[in-house]
Amino acid sequence: MCGIFGYIGKRELKKTLLEGLKRLEYRGYDSAGIAIVNKDSIYLNKVAGKIDDLASKVNFNIPMYNTCGIAHTRWATHGAPTKRNAHPHVDCKGDIAIVHNGIIENYLELKVELLQKGHVFDSDTDSEVIAHLIEEYYAGDLEEAVRKAVQRLRGAYAICVISINEPDKMVAARNGSPLVVGLGDDESFAASDVTPMLRYTKRVIFIKDGEMVVIKRDSIALKTIEGEFVKPEIQQIDWDAAQAERGGYKYFMLKEIFEQPRVMKDTLYGRFSKDGNIEFPQLEDWKDYLRSLRRISIVACGTSYHAGLVSKYFIEEIAGIPVDVDVGSEYRYRYVLPDEESLVIAISQSGETADTLGSVRKINDKAKTLAISNVVGSTLERETDKVINVNAGPEIGVASTKAYTAQLMTMYLFGLYLAQLKDKIDIRDYSKELLKMNEYVEMILREDEKIKAIASKYNHYDNAMYIGRTYNYPSALEGALKLKEISYVNAIGYPAGELKHGPIALLNSNFPVVAINPNSRVYDKMLSNIQEIKARDAKVIALVTEGNDSLNSLCDDIIFIPNIKSVFSPIPIAVAEQLLAYYIADMRGIDVDKPRNLAKSVTVE
Ligand code: G6P
Repeated sequence: MCGIFGYIGKRELKKTLLEGLKRLEYRGYDSAGIAIVNKDSIYLNKVAGKIDDLASKVNFNIPMYNTCGIAHTRWATHGAPTKRNAHPHVDCKGDIAIVHNGIIENYLELKVELLQKGHVFDSDTDSEVIAHLIEEYYAGDLEEAVRKAVQRLRGAYAICVISINEPDKMVAARNGSPLVVGLGDDESFAASDVTPMLRYTKRVIFIKDGEMVVIKRDSIALKTIEGEFVKPEIQQIDWDAAQAERGGYKYFMLKEIFEQPRVMKDTLYGRFSKDGNIEFPQLEDWKDYLRSLRRISIVACGTSYHAGLVSKYFIEEIAGIPVDVDVGSEYRYRYVLPDEESLVIAISQSGETADTLGSVRKINDKAKTLAISNVVGSTLERETDKVINVNAGPEIGVASTKAYTAQLMTMYLFGLYLAQLKDKIDIRDYSKELLKMNEYVEMILREDEKIKAIASKYNHYDNAMYIGRTYNYPSALEGALKLKEISYVNAIGYPAGELKHGPIALLNSNFPVVAINPNSRVYDKMLSNIQEIKARDAKVIALVTEGNDSLNSLCDDIIFIPNIKSVFSPIPIAVAEQLLAYYIADMRGIDVDKPRNLAKSVTVE
């Protein structure tokens, strides 16, 4: 759970490494460091803390004699988040430096072996063994030494290695953790994703598991870790650097919330034929199989899991196919029955979440697999049979916002596609609302000031409950997750019908409740729940359909959502919940983009 970055080329190294690292900060931010091949030693600078702390410690006036360096931003797994455990790690002589993302499962046995051979370790990390292994195997050829070293590793890694003895190259390798190489003009890059290199080049190569690459300023050589040449597939990336920057907003999260009207349009892009049918060109050869599907299993984690829950309600209702939904960490270890008539759908913003990947790997060809992912070229995309990209663009804020609504939109489209294949309904009635979703989201965003005012009334409460029914039971879970992850409020999400089975005991005037009650077939049931809550003196913030003024006197605060089919209401409701959580967290003085203990991409179990 870390970000790695390597650069070789003509630019000022310290600045380039720090700027690149900054783009990867969402991958972890408890410590950071850089290593540069200097005149006759490796320049090393590390801190416990964020990249800005590192930047303040770097003396830019000391010139570097070379053109090659690596950088790392860490989220601790093995060893506390201290300076000595920060990367880059070096070998005994300080000639070789490495950065690593992943977990080396056999590091203890390797460490014992290396200690016996006289190596001296400086940290508690699993990663440091890699530097010493390379040192052990080094006999004048860095590439060969890295090859021998990675062949000894068990677990997940993306590494980038430099050596004082071979200042004209970086050697990088991947197994289970993401690694991308960028090809610039007389400069090259290696990183955990494309964001640090986007401002310099759009030409990238996604390195696959079991591959390693020797990177020079003007060339790369891609091979398997067994040493066989591999033809690189160079891809052109459309994201520009500005897309990945904050663009005037205080936090990435707020920027990403406000990007959602555009994202709603982008997600729809290319999904409708001229005659109004839904198209997924990549699923063309699956049509018969999808028509005869008997079961769908959805696996996902965190916010993506909530997108899966909404999808269940929708697909079952619209396409008549039974759907079960699991969090990845449960699915991968429970007894499951995948077969040829079922489909496993993995929903993941990053496409790198360990438990989601573990679930897909468990299927092992027993059923077909489909990835719903936001990151082109992610591991999940490469390991599933088919892929649908949600097209939300890079999401930097740790709390998922635009990726969630893009996942919902994609799953609505997929559900309608299944219904269309089975001739179940006239999808036009539904698609016309999806085509206007950007406007519905804009309506919520125009309520920004009102939601901020509501946040200012409630930001001092340490508890909150979110309730909803049917489609908006997942919205209750998602609203509570959003609030707790960025504001540290003890927020819980419940299906409203379960109130009487326990949670109602919590309620009093210090326990505000967000009641999600748009017009729907369960409106009256929710109304009864709201009355029960008011009878316990709790404050109620209600989300209701515009034009419904009947709850004004009963509830303390009202947020109106557009008058759309209740099946689609989770999208505008999510946006309202995001704004409420954002403002509460900001008012509580929390660094919204970097909530404590969390990381954007959970690439370890
Ligand atoms: C982390 C993030 C969440 C995200 C979850 C699943 O917990 O903080 O925002 O929903 O991982 O990530 P994925 O990339 O698989 O959607």
